[in-house]
Amino acid sequence: MLEKTKQNYISHVPCCYWLCIRGIIITSDINIMILPLSQLLSLSQKGAGGDGMHEQLRAAADRYIFFRGMVRQREPKAEQIMNQLVEDYRSMPHGKGGKFFTNKKRGMRPFMIKYIHYCMYGIDPDDKEKIDILFNFYYGNKAGSAALYYFKVVGRVLGLVETFQYNRLVKKVSKIYEESPNLSSFPENEAKYGNLSRKELADATIPIMAIAATVGPKHLLEAAMGCSPLPNRVDGVKTNTTDVFGIWDGLDLDDSGEVERYINEIGRLWLPVSHTHRVATEPFTVKMLFKDRTFPTGTEIMIPLSLSMFDENIWDDAFEFNHNRHDLVKLNMMFQSVGNKDAGRMCPGKGFAMIMMSEIIVRCGKVRRE
Ligand code: HEM
Repeated sequence: MLEKTKQNYISHVPCCYWLCIRGIIITSDINIMILPLSQLLSLSQKGAGGDGMHEQLRAAADRYIFFRGMVRQREPKAEQIMNQLVEDYRSMPHGKGGKFFTNKKRGMRPFMIKYIHYCMYGIDPDDKEKIDILFNFYYGNKAGSAALYYFKVVGRVLGLVETFQYNRLVKKVSKIYEESPNLSSFPENEAKYGNLSRKELADATIPIMAIAATVGPKHLLEAAMGCSPLPNRVDGVKTNTTDVFGIWDGLDLDDSGEVERYINEIGRLWLPVSHTHRVATEPFTVKMLFKDRTFPTGTEIMIPLSLSMFDENIWDDAFEFNHNRHDLVKLNMMFQSVGNKDAGRMCPGKGFAMIMMSEIIVRCGKVRRE
């Protein structure tokens, strides 16, 4: 099964995750790293020439990771992890670049590791050994070494130490996932789940956690909570004059709709995932620099979601912050598809991420008003 998906993998690389994924492929090909190759993002859907693996892997991940994740978000243990985060917000410096966002022991980063892994896999947040391994892997720059390694291969000397550490950690992470409560109940060799083994599913979720779960919500929250200022969007022009703290402090935190719009407007102005892609299923011609140019089947087309979020035909005062703007949630593309329309490629972590981010904005927002 893995051999088969490899072809898809190499030809269907999404641009936004290009380096990370391609790094993993190359290193894996020369037998230095052991991360298998299937990853949801890189597989084509059936209608676009895929062999069905995307649908099967997505069904497995939906059922055993994402849906269960949203159920666990309502459990007391998740509440405890959230309470600790709120307590940390109260007691730690939390302004621009504050320790709340950067500390390894308390605050946002340990929260992300514990909360996401408890909810999505059922891993005990008090199991220090496992949590340390996961923290080191995701926030100790080890997951990113796949990308780094790529540069080293094409560029300079191979970083053997880095590679060795990465290799060691990734095996441990894979084992933790495989033995987690959620994946322990995964039925192996079922056709509807692509005959995946438990280990294959565990490995397939590592890139999801590395480039989506532990990055996207953290990025958005850092902007929504004033740790990183929203970027300027026009060269040489200061488009960002947003007073994030002022707006956050003025929200009606008991109005879930207003909180949702606030998160959506932050996301519109600074998408955590700036591009999606498609692979051309037939040749196509476009006018570029006054000439018709034809591209072949298989051309990878980058789709800049971020630019569509500044399209002045759709958004009035596109560069201004206005969380009450018309149809903001309905037209937002921060989770890939337009609003809630879905053709099977909508971010499957959307519901989970929105619940988690809303709760943090509400509860930490209330701490600010104490
Ligand atoms: C603020 C938070 C998040 C944002 C803005 C976001 C955004 C996106 C976007 C735009 C895509 C499409 C990428 C593409 O087409 O190339 C995507 C896909 C995906 N996201 Fe998220 N995401 C977030 C959080 C999460 C979380 C928490 C998880 C998992 C726990 C997750 C898992 C995935 C997966 C597995 C895909 C691939 C789906 C597929 O191709 O079928 N995301 N996300």
